[in-house]
Amino acid sequence: MKKILVLLVAVAFFLPAKADKGMWIPMLIGQNYEQMQKLGWKGTADDIYNVNKSSLKDAIVHFGGGCTGEMISKKGLLMTNHHCGYGNISSLSTVENNYLMNGFVANTQEEELPCPGLKVKFLVRMEDVTNRVQKVIGDAYGDEVGKRLGEISKKLKEENSDNGKYKVTVRSFYSGNKYYMFVHEEYTDVRLVAAPPESLGKFGGDTDNWMWPRHTCDFSMFRVYSDNNNRPAKYSTNNRPYQPKHHLPVSLKGVENGDFAMVMGYPGRTNRYLTSYGIDLSINDYNPSIVNIRDKRLAIMRERMQADPAVDLKYASTYASVANYWKYFIGQTEQLKKLKIYDQKKEEEAEFDRWSKRNARYLKNLFPDYAAAYADFKPYIKHAIYLGEAVGSPKMTQLAMRIGRMKGMDAEKLKKALPGLKAARKSMIVSMDLEMDRKLFGAMNHMFYRDVPRAQHPSIFATEVFKKYGSENWEKTFEDYANAIYANTALLDDAAFDRMATATNFDKLLQDPLVSYAMNVRNNYDDNYAQILKDYRHERFELDRAFQGGLLEKNKGQLMSPDANSTMRVTYGSVKAYQPKDAVSFAHYSTADGLLEKYKPGDSEFDLQPKIVDLLKARDFGDYADKKIDNLVTCFITNNDITGGNSGSPVINGDGEWIGAAFDGNWEAMSGDIAFDKRFKRTIVVDARYIMWVLDKVLGGRPLLDEMTIRN
Ligand code: ARG
Repeated sequence: MKKILVLLVAVAFFLPAKADKGMWIPMLIGQNYEQMQKLGWKGTADDIYNVNKSSLKDAIVHFGGGCTGEMISKKGLLMTNHHCGYGNISSLSTVENNYLMNGFVANTQEEELPCPGLKVKFLVRMEDVTNRVQKVIGDAYGDEVGKRLGEISKKLKEENSDNGKYKVTVRSFYSGNKYYMFVHEEYTDVRLVAAPPESLGKFGGDTDNWMWPRHTCDFSMFRVYSDNNNRPAKYSTNNRPYQPKHHLPVSLKGVENGDFAMVMGYPGRTNRYLTSYGIDLSINDYNPSIVNIRDKRLAIMRERMQADPAVDLKYASTYASVANYWKYFIGQTEQLKKLKIYDQKKEEEAEFDRWSKRNARYLKNLFPDYAAAYADFKPYIKHAIYLGEAVGSPKMTQLAMRIGRMKGMDAEKLKKALPGLKAARKSMIVSMDLEMDRKLFGAMNHMFYRDVPRAQHPSIFATEVFKKYGSENWEKTFEDYANAIYANTALLDDAAFDRMATATNFDKLLQDPLVSYAMNVRNNYDDNYAQILKDYRHERFELDRAFQGGLLEKNKGQLMSPDANSTMRVTYGSVKAYQPKDAVSFAHYSTADGLLEKYKPGDSEFDLQPKIVDLLKARDFGDYADKKIDNLVTCFITNNDITGGNSGSPVINGDGEWIGAAFDGNWEAMSGDIAFDKRFKRTIVVDARYIMWVLDKVLGGRPLLDEMTIRN
């Protein structure tokens, strides 16, 4: 009897992590090793993360701050998603020379295109700094927490940056229960090497986005450059390709259902420990507000983009990212409801309550306190969202708010700030479509007026807008206001602006109608409501820290994955088919047949260039075809746990080879950032062979393949 008991305890202690769920910390991946091995990982834990020899982590980069990329040759060749390179590809394009539309390939280094502003970061090492950070934070509350975290981060930076050689960041895990320091090396000379035509790179557009089955060839390629010592350097023709400590071999062997699959990358944010109160807020307030506003923004953008190819190119990247999270929040709301996540959270909270009554009585008020924090904040959430998402979206308003924030600066400071303001205005004017911006201004202010509680409105709506332009037709009222304000503002008049943008005349600039409007709207929020949001955030931090601290205690001996926070993570599992609903089965892969099935000539999302259609019809798949099915596999799915930021991440097989690039999640699991449902949650991957086929046959980039380490 006793023996069995001991055994049970032992088993409970080594309870394996669930294979699928979890974005694991690379430094601690040894804890998951046994499980990984069972699933098919043939390497060691050291092969994944090691600071004394090269390991997989050396092939992974944080790409541009919001995506992931990986090294696929010893000459700094970088693979990521098309939608990650999108902003750079569109900036490099013109209506006459449209790389976004036609694709791009550089078969020699001279043909590569520099991407000013693009940065990639390699992880040198990470370290648990919990003790030092928590000692400094102590029992601080509110703003003081951030201040003290800033102080200790500064100190850690000084100690670890090696005189500025490295970027050092400290990040909170489990909401302040753990802190890790990250030392990165940042490279700033990054050049575009290849991109498919958008018809393939964004095939299916917003219709197919966040959905399986998928046929998008969502990749783009860059090259990282360094100085002669392999160290970061500003762009220079003297730089040479960076030599990574590790690069991933490319496997053309393909995958089977059940094969091991691992993803390493930089997931941005998850909210897996969100309470039922947060779910309620998401479903009823937060998500619908964002979706409503974006519906309108997208319609206004679309109208102007369709009318003018130059506007289309200017706004392509903004449109794609607004649309991406517009659909994301539609899907998240739908699945939160369908999967009954609110009820699920209530049950989990009841169970936690039962546990804390016995083991952690100091937590007995946790959920009532959550309820109170949310209740205090809820009446103002629309105001906060509409300020940022709606009223704050026209570029002219952003400029006016920036000017408003400079009020009260002394002459000395102003003199320093003015050149930056002027430069920002110049580049904004070039990148803006005036008609779109004006329409946006009218429509967004109208929405604010209509949807945000009247008692919270800025005074200018009554004293100016309705006094001068008021009518029963609110939409028209705000249109008239927009027309007048854009006609009268000096911010659009180079000469008038330059006259006022001086230290002596700055007061006049503050009286500009657009600037007064922006200041009125901004001050109304800052003076009356900003503190409420701040209080809520501070409460949330305290409560989340207590809750997750309690969970760590409750789950002692089990692995518990922290929420994503834009730091490097590892997730492992398998290639896996699924059943989206009753009587429907999805295969684990898609093929080129689907491209032709979906192909719709002339359509903005499903068109393909004649050359591509010809290649597909001729079934000219070369060495990239899957021998077993005699077809080109386009995409496949795994049960890996990823989120935004993982885009472009390498999907790695049991032998440490690259089998594709992760690029999306699936519709049935759109609630996955909040609650992971293993039945449905999938990662959508572009198959390595599809990418290589496009690179070789569509783009003519054979020399690039030759520099990779190809495994057949
Ligand atoms: N859903 C993808 C992601 O967040 C981005 C896809 C971009 N494509 C688009 N049609 N907006 O990773």
